[in-house]
Amino acid sequence: MEAPCLSPASEPARIAPVGLPARYQVLRVLGAGGAGTVFLARDRQLGRLVALKTLRDPGGLLERLRSEARLLERLAHPAIVAVREFDVHAGRAYLAMDYVDGGSLAHARLEPRALARALRRVVDALAHAHRLGVVHRDVKPENVLLDRSGRAYLADFGLALERSARAFTPAGGTPLTMSPEQARGATVGPASDLFSFGVTLHRSLTGEWPFRGRTLADVLHAIQHEAPRGPRDVRASVPSALEAIVRRCLEKEPGRRFASADALGRALDRFLAPPSFLARVLPRLARARRRATAPRIPPHAPRIHPEDLP
Ligand SMILES: Nc1ncnc2c1ncn2[C@@H]1O[C@H](COP(=O)(O)OP(=O)(O)OP(=O)(O)O)[C@@H](O)[C@H]1O
Ligand SMILES: [Mg+2]
Repeated sequence: MEAPCLSPASEPARIAPVGLPARYQVLRVLGAGGAGTVFLARDRQLGRLVALKTLRDPGGLLERLRSEARLLERLAHPAIVAVREFDVHAGRAYLAMDYVDGGSLAHARLEPRALARALRRVVDALAHAHRLGVVHRDVKPENVLLDRSGRAYLADFGLALERSARAFTPAGGTPLTMSPEQARGATVGPASDLFSFGVTLHRSLTGEWPFRGRTLADVLHAIQHEAPRGPRDVRASVPSALEAIVRRCLEKEPGRRFASADALGRALDRFLAPPSFLARVLPRLARARRRATAPRIPPHAPRIHPEDLP
């Protein structure tokens, strides 16, 4: 038996009715992206909410995806949206993911410190994946999901394999967060994720993209050949430490970016760290020292009038 598929009037027309296993009661559409539509559903078996992503036209990739999907189990990390099931039903592939209830970073407005704190988790998630040899390839604000307490999760790792399998083409996704090596169709490694992270940080700090253009070709050209706008050029209140982090991530040459996600994480930690013990204590010590060495006039000291002086 198949679960009835919802097709509310408000749904975008491009969302075709789909069949999903009876295990899932589809509640509503959460969104739609390049790969397919995402539904909020109740997993009747486990009695909890899941995000179900149906994939368009998996074609011959399916078998490969199925075998490689096992790798995703090893990706388990507190800041990675877990894929609970990957299967095909009625000829259509779908992923069942943990549901994250606070929307995506693309629609959030966080002040710089809160943003850096949230994204710190995402950097940890990237470091973890890179250590396992997995490159995300689509780090962007829409793929950073927030829960109600502001914790961030990196979504769509499940599709990293698919993206690597179908030789990523610029036309396949948003070009705005692509690295220069992605934009020119070259092989991508972990440094490409760091570039896309820099674009994501820039966009979330300022509301604007560091590389712009009227056409796809213009954007791809800007990413490869033009200097980015710095976040402080757009919004002067952005802390200079975060601007420096964005600029380092956005180096055209992968070797000039942070050496690893861990190194990027340490830079964010330095920004987030409360002032060190010495930095807090030294000014106080200096003040105390000035007070201690200042000449004192005891309260009972006899008053001396200038005319009494020899
Ligand atoms: N696990 C999830 N929990 C809650 N909402 C989700 C989840 N996964 C996706 N969404 C929502 O569905 C929307 C569409 O996701 P989807 O991944 O299909 O598209 P995208 O991220 O915009 O583009 P792309 O296909 O390139 O990843 C997201 O922006 C998000 O709001
Ligand atoms: Mg996504």
